[in-house]
Amino acid sequence: MSQVPSLTLNNGVDMPQLGFGVWQVPDSDAEKAVATAIESGYRSIDTAAIYGNEAGTGKAVAASGVPRDELFITTKLWNSEQGYDKTLRAFDESLDKLGLDHVDLYLIHWPLPAKDTYVDTYKALEKIYADGRARAIGVSNFLPAHLERLIAETSVVPAVNQIELHPQLQQAELRALHAQHGIVTEAWSPLGQGKGLLEIPTVVAIARKHDRTPAQVVLRWHIQTGNVAIPKSVTPSRIVENLDVFGFELDPDDLAALGVLDEGKRLGADPAEFHYGA
Ligand SMILES: NC(=O)c1ccc[n+]([C@@H]2O[C@H](COP(=O)([O-])OP(=O)(O)OC[C@H]3O[C@@H](n4cnc5c(N)ncnc54)[C@H](OP(=O)(O)O)[C@@H]3O)[C@@H](O)[C@H]2O)c1
Repeated sequence: MSQVPSLTLNNGVDMPQLGFGVWQVPDSDAEKAVATAIESGYRSIDTAAIYGNEAGTGKAVAASGVPRDELFITTKLWNSEQGYDKTLRAFDESLDKLGLDHVDLYLIHWPLPAKDTYVDTYKALEKIYADGRARAIGVSNFLPAHLERLIAETSVVPAVNQIELHPQLQQAELRALHAQHGIVTEAWSPLGQGKGLLEIPTVVAIARKHDRTPAQVVLRWHIQTGNVAIPKSVTPSRIVENLDVFGFELDPDDLAALGVLDEGKRLGADPAEFHYGA
């Protein structure tokens, strides 16, 4: 097993704190990218039905030779499939494409508040969980009001909320709510999509100080903040670089300097508004 530490979810299941994301990786490339990631030491893979690469991901998992119980596979229910019965069918399709008999984590991809089906949808996830076909269930892009309603109206507290989170969008309110309910915070676009964040002089200076890259500094910040992070790359050298963040530590000055980069600015959609595909 790699050197990646795990966080224990609220149902006792362990989840690696650093995983590999495959959004925008075409199915034809996913097998190679996921194979490189697993060879490099990643044990957690984050895909989704809408990414269209569950099949390629599953092929890499099958070919890896790594025992299934050492891997942590996440997939997500797409917006068009919300609702109790549709969710059960969509989950079957995801398992089929992945070539697996269970996933480690199944998430509702977006809350779609105007559609108002996330409670029924989550009840289908509870059934999947009760049947042992997902070792943990959770949500993605849920805002505080959505989480609070889910917790009030269903039985299984989500294990994870996967949200956009990086030093320019630190999500203090949600992280505090997650802590209150024992929900793990999982950061999507943890590198700020590899754009402006990695060029900010503060980040570059901290990287120089530790003889590391800006991406490693940002990923280390996630680890020390207590987030799960799932950086994506199709570049083999970056796949390796992004996992190599356990041999150094940010000091309190570094953490304070990164703390003030928060602008509350989203790179992705606002979950209150996003209804694409619904
Ligand atoms: N739940 C949701 O709604 C949601 C939304 C978005 C993303 N996600 C998940 O989160 C994962 C990660 O988010 P993301 O893909 O949006 O963005 P990200 O991981 O923050 O950044 C990925 C980008 O950064 C580049 N990059 C990777 N490592 C780098 C490094 N060491 N140095 C410089 N650039 C680097 C990549 O380029 P190359 O690939 O060309 O190397 C890619 O363009 C996704 O793959 C997906 O699994 C979930």
